[in-house]
Amino acid sequence: MLQTPLPNTAVLKREGWRRLRQSLLYQDSIYRQCIQAGDTTQLAFHAQVLIGAIACRLEADQNGGASLYIVSLGVLAPYRNSGIGTRLLHRSLDQARTDSNITACYLHVQISNKDAIRFYTRQGFTVGPVITNYYRRIEPRDAVMLSKPLW
Ligand SMILES: CC(C)(COP(=O)(O)OP(=O)(O)OC[C@H]1O[C@@H](n2cnc3c(N)ncnc32)[C@H](O)[C@@H]1OP(=O)(O)O)[C@@H](O)C(=O)NCCC(=O)NCCS
Repeated sequence: MLQTPLPNTAVLKREGWRRLRQSLLYQDSIYRQCIQAGDTTQLAFHAQVLIGAIACRLEADQNGGASLYIVSLGVLAPYRNSGIGTRLLHRSLDQARTDSNITACYLHVQISNKDAIRFYTRQGFTVGPVITNYYRRIEPRDAVMLSKPLW
């Protein structure tokens, strides 16, 4: 369990994201990092129903700057292909750009997830190296890294 009290927005984000991606439960430390990343972590609602979420964390780089790492982006299946994923991604990237120290965004996707790889490349992300055995609990285990400069 999280040990420190969180403001309501943070609880909403944590519980909402947990509900949306039930098949992918993360350690509490990951939820905490994403909530600490402020409004780069976003939830999407339709008629008060949670239908999408993007969760990000900030990672310091060796040059004193930082990168935005997308831990999870998901939209409920019936609501896909209507622009919600794009809007969540853009809101998160726009929020990151308000901090000039954040210079890039990156993420990992399962190599079999062709829809997500196409989605991100259409959003200007570049496909990087394949990382073998990146995932331990899901098959296939290999991931591809995608990245995009923010400036
Ligand atoms: C990847 C994912 C988040 C995309 O969400 P989405 O809401 O469907 O995304 P969008 O609707 O913005 O864009 C999806 C496609 O619909 C198209 N689209 C956008 N608005 C549209 C509209 N109004 N009408 C029809 N198509 C539209 C986009 O052009 C895009 O096409 P492309 O993939 O060929 O580029 C979603 O498929 C998902 O939740 N997948 C499962 C989880 C996952 O794999 N996450 C990624 C790893 S973190």
